[in-house]
Amino acid sequence: MTFAHWSAALREHWGIDAELSRLDGEYDLNFLAKDNGDQGYILKAMRPGCEKWLVDMQVKALEHIASNEPEFPCPRVIPSTAGESLLTLPDEDGQDRLVWLVNQLPGRCYAKAEPKSDALIHEVGQVLGGSAKVLADFRHEGLKRDFKWDLMRAGWIRDQLSCISDPARRATLEGISEDFAKLESVLAELPKQAIHNDANDYNIMVAGELGETRRVSGLIDLGDMCAAPRVCDLAIAAAYIVLDHPEPETALAALVAGYHEAYPLTPAEVDIIWPLLRARLAVSVVNSTMMAADNPDDPYVTISQAPAWRFLEGNTLHGGLLTARLRAACGLPVVDGADRVLAWLEQERGSFAPLMGQDLADAPLGSLSVEHSAWPQNPFHMPLEEAARVGEEFEDNGRVWLGYYHEPRLIYTDAAFRKGPWKASNRRTVHLAVDAFAPAGTPVFAPLCGEVFAAEYRDGHLDYGGVIILKHETPEGDSFFTLYGHLDPEILDRLKPGDTVEKGEEFCRLGAPGQNGGWAPHVHFQLALTTEGIETDWPGVGDPDDMYLWRALCPNPAALLNLPDGKVEYAPTRKEDVLAGRRAHFGGNLSLTYNDPVMLMRGWKHHLFDEWGRPYLDAYNNVPHVGHAHPRIHAVAADQLKRVNSNTRYLHPAQTAFADKLLSKLPDHFEVCFFVNSGTEANELALRLARAHTGAKGMVSPDHGYHGNTTGAMSISAYKFNKPGGIGQADWVELIEVADDYRGSFRRDDPDRAQKFADLADPAILRLQEKGHGIAGFIAETFPSVGGQIIPPKGYLPAVYDKIRAAGGVCIADEVQTGLGRLGEFYFGFEHQGAMPDIVVMGKPIGNGHPLGLLVTTKAIAESFDNGIEFFSTFGGSTLSCRTGKEVLDIVDDEGLQDNARRQGVRLINGLKMLQQKYTCVGDVRGMGLFLGLELVNADGSEATEICSYIKNRMRDHRILIGSEGPKDNILKIRPPLTIEAEDTDMIVEILDSILQEVEAA
Ligand SMILES: Cc1ncc(COP(=O)(O)O)c(C=O)c1O
Repeated sequence: MTFAHWSAALREHWGIDAELSRLDGEYDLNFLAKDNGDQGYILKAMRPGCEKWLVDMQVKALEHIASNEPEFPCPRVIPSTAGESLLTLPDEDGQDRLVWLVNQLPGRCYAKAEPKSDALIHEVGQVLGGSAKVLADFRHEGLKRDFKWDLMRAGWIRDQLSCISDPARRATLEGISEDFAKLESVLAELPKQAIHNDANDYNIMVAGELGETRRVSGLIDLGDMCAAPRVCDLAIAAAYIVLDHPEPETALAALVAGYHEAYPLTPAEVDIIWPLLRARLAVSVVNSTMMAADNPDDPYVTISQAPAWRFLEGNTLHGGLLTARLRAACGLPVVDGADRVLAWLEQERGSFAPLMGQDLADAPLGSLSVEHSAWPQNPFHMPLEEAARVGEEFEDNGRVWLGYYHEPRLIYTDAAFRKGPWKASNRRTVHLAVDAFAPAGTPVFAPLCGEVFAAEYRDGHLDYGGVIILKHETPEGDSFFTLYGHLDPEILDRLKPGDTVEKGEEFCRLGAPGQNGGWAPHVHFQLALTTEGIETDWPGVGDPDDMYLWRALCPNPAALLNLPDGKVEYAPTRKEDVLAGRRAHFGGNLSLTYNDPVMLMRGWKHHLFDEWGRPYLDAYNNVPHVGHAHPRIHAVAADQLKRVNSNTRYLHPAQTAFADKLLSKLPDHFEVCFFVNSGTEANELALRLARAHTGAKGMVSPDHGYHGNTTGAMSISAYKFNKPGGIGQADWVELIEVADDYRGSFRRDDPDRAQKFADLADPAILRLQEKGHGIAGFIAETFPSVGGQIIPPKGYLPAVYDKIRAAGGVCIADEVQTGLGRLGEFYFGFEHQGAMPDIVVMGKPIGNGHPLGLLVTTKAIAESFDNGIEFFSTFGGSTLSCRTGKEVLDIVDDEGLQDNARRQGVRLINGLKMLQQKYTCVGDVRGMGLFLGLELVNADGSEATEICSYIKNRMRDHRILIGSEGPKDNILKIRPPLTIEAEDTDMIVEILDSILQEVEAA
């Protein structure tokens, strides 16, 4: 038996007692050996006849690394007890094999590690660079090997391309082959050294459990080592990293920057990464096609080649622009000469002809930033009328005013600015130019002499209109470019490519909105150090996460305006500063969501935007019930604040109008409203009302409920008082089990579960009576939310209410989370239950962000409360609050938001149920309308808190905000504004699907 043979060998020669299991290996025998202490080893028994130099080279290289860089992550060779690193031992058949032992590294291979974040890829680059650095002085005869995987010799595929039968594919490879031929002389000039030469995604090990940062734990398998330029090593790793990566250019930049950090590259090396990467993929597909020639019908070849073909045929990357990106990621000049151009511009600052014919040193700046500006009202749609007025608040009798460079703006609303399929996909927001706003027709002057590189008319909505690009040359002969956008298209009659424009020449004019793409008149003045990959179609704005590239390619043009850079450079408020301020001045128990918190500056309907204009889908917040920044809420609030904002000591029709609207949504026995400022205040008041009406003190409430943060409300909020450090349970409060029929005492297979859960109220009532408190009432979130988005079985609440009333108490429905149409089918949760509460409490959504709480009750209860002591809440029922609250209720009706909640809820639940079928960790999907929960479970059915936290944070990485709830915090809470649309619910399901895949892979 093979295992017995080799474990005996391990014992005899290394003194290690271990259990063996077989690992993959085409010809060699590889065993995983685990000793009793769980230390792992890899025992390698090479195929009979394996050349010794090949194994010796690997052993020596690993030993070289261990002695020169002891911390470097790669396997360590374990010598035998006799001190030998490489042994010759007979196998079971008596054939000699070379045998050696290394320690096992933690983790899994990169191919199976998720997520493949930029940070992880950056670290892969660092490790690879580190390996090349330590191997630079490693010498071995075997490194001179002549084999097809030496990328310097990739030219061999040229004569083999006939094996590729598809003509288009063959042509692709011919192109790559021709590009490679041009590189051969460059490669020959580069110094050679020992390199790993096969850092594919199965040779990089990654450690880190779910929720932990993934770390590279080692580089393995040095069997393809050879001597070659180190950039070949990097290009080979790059060829695997890009495959099926959604943003290959970003991944490449992370990899190359990581490598550069560990082992700095030269610009000339960076310049050949892209063609080398393509050459490596070409070698792979040609090689596997040749290998498969004997088995033409073997589907494995097609399958294994598919990712490489998908990349070679599908990617739209521009090699020149990619190379500029890689240079920028390394902090190298973005093109040769870029540093000289910048130095020359610096030297000439102050001597350029004035762009607007006047000194701009005192010109005011106007910010159109996400943070400081409300342009446009709808960040997903900018109508022409609005674009033509952008920045009108800065206009001052035609005086020139400037718009910032490097300013994130939401005015670029067209889908062309989006980088993905969703509204919440990343978008390009950061301005790469300086704007000069002035009346249409204002002349523009050339800051320096140049040759017309392009003169065009771009007639698209919010495009450039008339646009000119000039090409300039420094006295040293380095070229650079300037762009002038939003011009009067009359330029096309006068200027064409190749024409010269003199310094100070009045060469164009600002266009009117009808001619300039639709904008308020201004010139967009942009500098670029190369046109590689952008040609005449320059992006005027960039993705905030790509600024390392765009700031290098299109630097601040202030020097050309004779201005200091700082004058026109925008610096958004830094999240870190706000966080530090918060830590300094706020209590530590004011909690922040997410490991990496978000700072939100704008909102629109169910989307939010951070300080850089990155959009987020808000699938969590119920307060913006009718959507963030609703124009009708803004209008009604502004209108009322212009008039009067007073209190309930005076009459105002807005008070009764709000009450009438609200009561129209409730059963007839609700006749009296109390206006307060928050859900907490309403619940506190509900307690007082219940006690005033019953003369009793005792309260019954389901466990893990939440009703507010004041002393009384906290006492009926088990979610707070029962937490470690909580105030504990008052003796006038009795808790009953939440009617959770997924995890609780009575499950969905029990038809009597509603009654059985309700019966749990009996002993609670009895205990309160025995203690002499009597029964003031019962309070429950109609559908427990912090308890885990629970929908109690139908009939539960009426059964409890009957018991409470029989004991003399009143029944309080906390509808803060569930009311006002969120449930789709029902306006209030108690309707679903067929229950009739005596008091209904509302909060959060009813003011759409304006602080508003509300209590409605019966005449009889209100009369019991009216005992001669005035009830007054200064801001409760303010004129502004009443108008705002009524407007919210009107909008729900006018925009059909309750019905939208129903439709989108069905769509979401269906999608989530599909995920439940697919993933074992999705234990339950529950909810109604847009009040949904997805319960995550471990393999043993227990609450999967870690998975829940991982998903919540990964959803945020994907720009979706959701929450988590439940006693063990293992229930994802989805509770968006009621405006959410089908494409957004699809995004939630699709992204959740991809994250659940990561969870399963972990
Ligand atoms: C069900 C329920 N009741 C009451 C409250 C308290 O409302 P507020 O925070 O407005 O005081 C909350 C708040 O989350 C709640 O969810």
